[in-house]
Amino acid sequence: MNSAINEIAPTVVVNNERFKLLIPESEIRRRVQELAGELNRNYAGKTPIFIGILNGSFIFFSDLIREITLDCEIDFFKLSSYGDAKISSGNVKLLKDLNCQVTGMDIIIVEDIIDSGLSMDFIKKVITKQNPRSFSVVTLLYKRDCVKIDFKVDYIGFEIPNHFVVGYGLDYAQKARNLRSIYVLDK
Ligand code: IMP
Ligand code: MG
Repeated sequence: MNSAINEIAPTVVVNNERFKLLIPESEIRRRVQELAGELNRNYAGKTPIFIGILNGSFIFFSDLIREITLDCEIDFFKLSSYGDAKISSGNVKLLKDLNCQVTGMDIIIVEDIIDSGLSMDFIKKVITKQNPRSFSVVTLLYKRDCVKIDFKVDYIGFEIPNHFVVGYGLDYAQKARNLRSIYVLDK
């Protein structure tokens, strides 16, 4: 077996730009388990609906949900705001709506990263219009210095500096989602 395949590269090149390791796979795994533990405790006896935001959250979502021991449902929104750029267009579009019934349910939004917060603001409006019993947000990454939302994010994996990151589901022009660790633009 080629052991190099499991080693964590200190830097990677994506679309001709260099990124350096920010959060290794092992640290992500540990934090995902902690977040799931908190959710399992806080939602004990409830039947929440976990809603993943595609595409970026697909890996975080699938790792998190397998640590959840609650009786639960899952669904997905697909949003677009970045195009292929490194800064958000600020123009959030709903590309796929939910199939589930939100009214009266405990809703947990699962996001890869909150940057400007515009996407989350949009999601919160769409969900609360449908009168859920409760609404909370779990995000793996949170760029504290950019976020412009006026509500509290309940579960945050890691607060990170305001730099562009890739890996573990997050892309740069659709590339690098398959990296096991999270990398930051090396500037
Ligand atoms: P926001 O609306 O600015 O908060 O951006 C949210 C979405 O933009 C996230 O769900 C990600 O898909 C994407 N995004 C934000 N920051 C980054 C980043 O640093 N790398 C890759 N995608 C990002
Ligand atoms: Mg996203």
